[in-house]
This record gives sequence, structure tokens and C-alpha cells, in this order.
Amino acid sequence: MARSQVVKFFYLTTAIDYANGSPHLGHAYEKILSDAIVRSRRMEGLQCHFLTGLDEHGQKVQETAERLSIEPQKLCDKVAEEFQAMCQLMQVDYDDYIRTSQPRHTSVVRGILSKLYENGDIYKSSYVGLYSVRAERFVHEKDMVDGKWPEDFGDVIELQEENYFFKMKGHQAWLLDYLKKNDEFIFPAYRQKQVLEFLAEPLNDLCISRPKSRLTWGIELPFDGDYVTYVWFDALINYISAIGYGTERFHDFWPADVEVIGKDILSPAHAVYWPIMLRAIGLELPRQLVVHGWWLAKGGEKMSKSLGNVVRPIDYATVYGSDAFRYFVLSEMSVGQDSDFSHELFASRYRADLSNDIGNLLSRTVNMVERYCGGTIPPVEVEEELERELKFLAKKTIGDVRERCRHYDFSGALESVCALVRSANRYLECRSPWKLAKGKEKDLAEMKTSLAVAAECLRICAALLIPAIPQSAEKMFAQLGAQTVNDWTALDWGNSLAWKRVCKGPVLFPRIGEDDDAMPAVSAR
Ligand code: ME8
Ligand code: MG
Repeated sequence: MARSQVVKFFYLTTAIDYANGSPHLGHAYEKILSDAIVRSRRMEGLQCHFLTGLDEHGQKVQETAERLSIEPQKLCDKVAEEFQAMCQLMQVDYDDYIRTSQPRHTSVVRGILSKLYENGDIYKSSYVGLYSVRAERFVHEKDMVDGKWPEDFGDVIELQEENYFFKMKGHQAWLLDYLKKNDEFIFPAYRQKQVLEFLAEPLNDLCISRPKSRLTWGIELPFDGDYVTYVWFDALINYISAIGYGTERFHDFWPADVEVIGKDILSPAHAVYWPIMLRAIGLELPRQLVVHGWWLAKGGEKMSKSLGNVVRPIDYATVYGSDAFRYFVLSEMSVGQDSDFSHELFASRYRADLSNDIGNLLSRTVNMVERYCGGTIPPVEVEEELERELKFLAKKTIGDVRERCRHYDFSGALESVCALVRSANRYLECRSPWKLAKGKEKDLAEMKTSLAVAAECLRICAALLIPAIPQSAEKMFAQLGAQTVNDWTALDWGNSLAWKRVCKGPVLFPRIGEDDDAMPAVSAR
């Protein structure tokens, strides 16, 4: 089937990470959140395309490469490997990884620049400003500390520089109007405020070039070989270059349904520059920007190497498994708001939700099916109030989780699944199959029923946990002898497990000791 006959893809993009350092908690979180969104959309039957990547050009990358005495491209190759390995470890199952040094990207950027230049949307002008020789950039009065320039600025001189500018002024009224009419464009909606504040001031045209005398690591302007492209103008275009802007297949994807970004790059980059760039080249805007908050260290401090409070996501995934890490970040952070990461919070959620609730329900159910039913899940034989209540809750949970995932509320969705798991654990306490197993016929029927009902609850929970903890969900299906569920639209309480053979496996979430109270340090750097 030709691509263009396919119903449009659910197309999700993420911020592309700067290539001047190693992946950190914020990077890991954003990609995990994006992966969970895509997996939940796949469960709703949508065809998805998941793009992420690396932002390779610019001053900082050039400087880091110089410091390490390697070519910038070599540095980026190394960093790209590190970021991709992080994604693999975290089960971030992207469909495409764009790197802004790739010809498929640079050619699209140059094509767009040419078009805008020919249309008169880009002009040359001279800029006079204060320039720090040592920091190699223009600085502003507001960079001063106590009326003095910081040490690392060195000499600050007045410099006049010729540059190219992209006309933005003429789009301001349109953009304001667009934002007012489309209050779902930015999620959560309260984040729109900072964009409106930015737009309350008159817009300046955007300087989109850097002279090669100060920066060479960038995409050369097609109409002036003495300049490279400003890194943000280059980077934003990744969302359309990756899907083949200018070719037929492009329209199977664009507009993006969701662009996931952090709050620091909403305004002006994604909410002002990007919409205006798209409008200038005649493209629709993405349907929605999903803006997450920031991870802070314990006590709301900023993470920094010098404070020694940096969380290493790779160490967590290595020691506790990537599902445990994914579960924590998705349940702890409510999308949009900031959250603290502390080992105490991690350990307490791990113990409560993963070991005691989910892991425990699975192991006790499978163990009892083995012990009392010869390893075969029995059919339901009785249905009394206790069973009806649990079935009702399970059905309600399916609807609730689907609804929450649609609105990026993974924290609420996981809470909802855990509530069902806790009810199933309480149900087993009430029925006490270990006592019924010693009784007569009616007791035995109740015993079998209770195990069948617990198993069905687990099957439904596993299905609902797929976006957050895909590996563990798979293991749950396997231990129940159940078929993997890959479609929520057909998920319902049923008796598909009757006569299935359970297959006991290793403990899903091994207990972590009370003294295990420090952050893991596997790769201490
Ligand atoms: O901004 N908590 O790259 P980047 C949560 N290259 N998210 C965080 C975070 C934290 N502590 N720190 C960073 C860039 N992020 C540009 C993007 S897109 C065309 C270009 C998020 O490596 C940050 O908000 O600095 C951003 O969405 C992403 O990580 C990459 O940040
Ligand atoms: Mg940043």
C-alpha cells in the first residue's frame, strides 16, 4: 500500500537535544514521556511516527570540540551514540532519529532559506551592540552583575556587525489572534500566558545568521558564503526535514500532532519563531505543543555537578531496571509542573506500587494457581457481590486510564491502575483462597473463582501499563499465559484466561532493602 493511501500518521516530535554534553535526567524524562504518549496512541489503534534527535550546530558545540581538540562532527558522532544508547536502555522506541548535520536536514534548511530570501522575507542589515570578546557573543546590560561585566566576558566592546534578519513583525497580530482562537495549541493551557506576555511587546525581526569569523560550525547560508545559520532557525526545521519536506510523503505526516518540549524552550522558540517560520513558508502549525516542567534536585534545587546532586538516569535504569525508572518519572511528575527527584521518593514509590502492589499481586496469583489448580487458570464459577464489584471497577479503570492518557495524565493513569491492583489484593484477602483450598465443593468453586478473577484483573492491568512499563507488562502477560493485548479499544473484562497455563517467572520488582537509601552510582563520572 502506498504511503499516501494510509490514514494520516499520529506524528510526534520531541525537542532535539544539544550535542554539547551527556544525556541527563531532563533528556531521559522527555523521551520517556514522548514514548509513553506514542505507545498509548498505538493502543488506541493509531499509526504513529515518533521522531527525536540531536541538535548539533552552534557555538557551544564548536567550543566543546575545540576544548577536546577534535572536529565538531567527531564530537557529535560520539554524543549521538550516547543519546541513542540512552534511548535504547530506556525503551524509547523512536521511528526516526534526526541529526542536524545530516544532508537530509541541511539541504532542507538551505532550500527554505533560499525561498524566504527570494520572497523578500530575509534582508541584510547592520547591528551595533556590546560584544564580549572572550565569550564571543553579543551581551546586554542585563548580563551585568552589580554594575560590572562578569569575569569570563573579558573585554566588552562596541561592535558593528552585518547580519541577515528574518521578518517577523508583520506576523505578530496574526499569531496573537491564532493563540486566542486556539486555546488547545499549548498544553497545559496556563503556559500560554508567558507567550502572550512575550507578544505584548513589539516583535523584533530575528537575526538568523552568524558571520563565519565567529562561528563556522553551522549550515552555510545559500546566498552568502560568509555566514552560517543561527542554530535555532536550523534546529526547528528538523521537525519537517526529517519527514521529507518537499516530497510527496511529507503530507502523510504534517502537521505534527504533538510536539513535546520543556518549558524553557516554549517562548519564544516554539511558540513564536516556529509558527511564524511555518506561516512564512505556507505550512500549517503543529496541532499541539505539550510542554513539560523541570526536574529539580531534592528540595527544589537546580541540579549541578558542583552541588553533587545530579541524578544519573542511566544508573537508575541499570540498577533497578528501566521500567522502574520510567514508572517513577511518569507517576511522580504531572505534565507541565516541576518535580523534585530524590532517592527517597523513588524508593518509596518502588516499594509501595511496584513491589508491594503490582509485583505482589502477580506472584501470589501465579503461585496459588500452581499450588491449588495445577498451574491452569480455572474458569469463573461463581459471581457474587465481591466479584461484581471488582469487575465493575476494572471496567471503569479501563475507561479512566484511556481518558487520562489522551490528556497526558500518566500520573493519574498509573494511580488508577494501582487502585485497581490494591482492590484486587484486598479481594484476595477477603476470599482467602488459601483457606478455601482446604474446604468442600462450594469452597473450591470460590477458591478457583477468586484466582480466575485476580488473574483477569492482572491481565487488564498489564494492558493498561504498556505505555509506562512495556517490558514488565510483557512479563505479566507471559506469566499469566495470556496473549499480549495490543489494542485498548477491544479491551474488556472477559474469560480469555480460562484453561491457560501460568508460567512462573522471576520476581517482577525485587524488594529493595531498607538500607538501600542512596542514589546508585554505577557510572560515577
Ligand atoms: O533546548 N527537566 O536542548 P537541551 C526537564 N537543542 N526537562 C529538561 C531539563 C530538566 N531538568 N533540562 C532540559 C535544547 N530539559 C535545544 C532544543 S528543539 C528544536 C531544540 C529539556 O539539550 C529541555 O526543556 O538543552 C528540552 O525540551 C530538552 O530537555 C532538550 O534540552
Ligand atoms: Mg537547555
